Amino acid sequence: MDFDAALADLEAAGLKRRRRVVRGLQGPVLDVDGEPMLAFASNDYLGLASHPEIIEATIAAARRCGVGGGASHLISGHHEEHELAEEALARFVDLPRTLLFSSGYMANTGVIPALVGRGGAVFSDTLNHACLIDGARLSRAAVHIYPHGDLATLEAMLARNRTPDKIVITDGVFSMDGDIAPVPEMIALCERHDAMLLVDDAHGFGVVGPGGRGTLAHFGAKSERLLYMGTLGKAVGVAGAFVAGNASAIEWLVQRTRTYIFTTSMPPMLAAAIRASLDIVARDEWRRKRLVEHGRRLRAGLQCLPWALPTTRTAIQPVLIGSNAAALAVMRELWERGIWAPAIRPPTVPEGTARLRITFSAAHEEAHIDRLVGALREVAEVCIAGADAN
Ligand SMILES: Cc1ncc(COP(=O)(O)O)c(C=O)c1O
Repeated sequence: MDFDAALADLEAAGLKRRRRVVRGLQGPVLDVDGEPMLAFASNDYLGLASHPEIIEATIAAARRCGVGGGASHLISGHHEEHELAEEALARFVDLPRTLLFSSGYMANTGVIPALVGRGGAVFSDTLNHACLIDGARLSRAAVHIYPHGDLATLEAMLARNRTPDKIVITDGVFSMDGDIAPVPEMIALCERHDAMLLVDDAHGFGVVGPGGRGTLAHFGAKSERLLYMGTLGKAVGVAGAFVAGNASAIEWLVQRTRTYIFTTSMPPMLAAAIRASLDIVARDEWRRKRLVEHGRRLRAGLQCLPWALPTTRTAIQPVLIGSNAAALAVMRELWERGIWAPAIRPPTVPEGTARLRITFSAAHEEAHIDRLVGALREVAEVCIAGADAN
């Protein structure tokens, strides 16, 4: 492969991504290449990634169990700390058993192929996250994609399908829009058409539902057909993920999930950090309240702008701008004002819906939101005046 030519093509198409180097602790203001940037770009929704109690628990665990997992879980790497974290997570989500993974990406790409294979069928929402899509592809099952949230089409697809092994896969909270999947209706469909349902709650776990127990708890949804995936590097502020469900389903995953079996276990000290964080997630209701207040404050402050801000109950607030060029221009203007809010363009989001993806943290203060409101108002004027002049 001619890497230089391929990279030059990416550059020319405006698709070459660059990494920014962040120093120091996570928080609302990040040191980026030496500049303080007010960031609305992180998934540390509850502001726990730098929480002193969790840091102390991690250091204490490192002293007790070292820094590495040592081996894979089915050889000699399954530590008491993993066991304790799995039990704590099962209690937290009120499901019989859970299984820890090193990341959400590994959970989805491993679990779907463990559940369906060649001859089976996967039904996937158009806006699902890349790792659900990759898991579906790796499974070798037939993949059927339904328009976002369109349960009538999903039902028609399920009704037509005669394969015995069917699974519907969905984000719980969609990562680019912040909307919540209609899980109870999806369970009903799966029950009518004998399918399993996998809910990826990367952006809901810790954020929605009573006590931050996630999208299933938000709806009070339960079913033997459900598998629930939550990530631990976003609201929980640490790293990793877990899958929860009935005991037999989880035991099957232990036996068959390649991304669980053929990899070194998560460092036990991180399993201890997860447990310490879960206590704070459950305890600090004010963190979730703050996220909702931040959303309200931003939407109220930007009512006068020509951009739509759909109401969400999550930490994700899209600002729909439209064209790719305009979204990029807004991101650049904000950056010049010391604010980091990423522009998201197709194919990550549908054509014509390029946007800013604002994410809030409980560590943001009202003054931070007001600064964002002020900057966006200013930037809107600059960008709209620029568009009128063209
Ligand atoms: C919906 C969704 N699922 C899964 C993941 C992957 O989780 P992880 O970062 O733990 O690999 C992400 C984002 O990273 C996500 O947005």
